[in-house]
Amino acid sequence: MNQAPEAILLVGGKGTRLRPLTVRTPKPMVPAAGVPFLTHQLARARSAGVEHIVLATSYLAEVFEPYFGDGSALGLHLEYVTEEEPLGTGGAIRNVASRLRSGPDDPVLVFNGDILTGLDIGALVDTHRATGADVSLHLTRVDDPRAYGLVPTDVTGRVTAFLEKPQTPQEIVTDQINAGAYVFRRSVIDTIPDGRSVSVERETFPKLLRSGAHLQGMVDSTYWLDLGTPHAFVRGSADLVLGRAPSPAVPGRRGDRLVLPSARVAADAKLTGGTVVGEGAVVGEGARIDGSTVLAGAVVGAGAVISGSLVGEGARIGARTVLSGVVVGDGAVVGEDNELRDGARVWCDAVLPAGAVRFSSDQ
Ligand code: GDD
Ligand code: MG
Repeated sequence: MNQAPEAILLVGGKGTRLRPLTVRTPKPMVPAAGVPFLTHQLARARSAGVEHIVLATSYLAEVFEPYFGDGSALGLHLEYVTEEEPLGTGGAIRNVASRLRSGPDDPVLVFNGDILTGLDIGALVDTHRATGADVSLHLTRVDDPRAYGLVPTDVTGRVTAFLEKPQTPQEIVTDQINAGAYVFRRSVIDTIPDGRSVSVERETFPKLLRSGAHLQGMVDSTYWLDLGTPHAFVRGSADLVLGRAPSPAVPGRRGDRLVLPSARVAADAKLTGGTVVGEGAVVGEGARIDGSTVLAGAVVGAGAVISGSLVGEGARIGARTVLSGVVVGDGAVVGEDNELRDGARVWCDAVLPAGAVRFSSDQ
């Protein structure tokens, strides 16, 4: 790869502003494998040689900036631009154009801020340069493409259409979707309308295609996950710990578990499947936790059995309680001898008394 381009990271919009009712920390800052999720994306970009990244936010720059600062701890030069009103993905890209240093024909990387991926960033840039495309897109294949942008290509990989969130079966013409990583020719960014909301997916890409621009797809079936839901988040965090999702920012060695230094885990507790136990959290005797994230300061009682679940900051899980595929909000209390399963969500600070809920039949 030639010199790596600069990058724009999109971390705004409605999804991130409407905080999930179960976690108080803004999504990009919720720890995945022990560090704010955004750290993984920043560190991966840095490993690919990127040095200058502009964070396009539509809120809460005051949350990102105190933590990441000027980016020097990660070897980066970071800048922050906050939209007064969310400008959409395209508007957000256009809004930071003045911060770019690239020349008109230079490539500029753009990343959706909620993706965990093993994408070979250098290969995407190489594809972009080799094909002379106006925009190059990382594509991945999924079983159900309805929640994504569908991107059919011809035999050479050239994009033939862009169908955001297809509604009808007829629209589902491919299983290739937009994976949320692009390379833009700098001058294309300057053609996005300024000062209003623009969706790059619904407006910019279809318009470019109609005008005959060259959009190039690169299908890369490496690890890929949109962390849009708490359950996807837990999965991603576990995959980082297990080493399935590559990131240079995971503290400590890859393995079955990640226990942060100030956490206390009973000697006979069993932590498996990429479980993370956050700072100051406590896991009691005989507890078994598989593929789950226990955030900072949470307490898991003796003999609790937890799998595929998120236990929020400072939450308390009573002794012998079973959680499977559950999200327990920050500060919530689930008393002992409860059984919660399959997508149950306990709101922040809610209190569930001992023995209040069970799924299995009466004995
Ligand atoms: N700054 C800023 N301003 N960022 C925004 C805005 C905005 O107004 N709106 C969205 N973003 C950021 C989000 O924070 C996220 O990181 C990214 O842009 C994509 O927005 P989402 O709201 O997460 O979109 P999505 O997941 O429904 O769909 C997008 O991602 C899919 C892959 O996960 C689209 O790009 C799809 O085409 C794609 O398949
Ligand atoms: Mg998303």
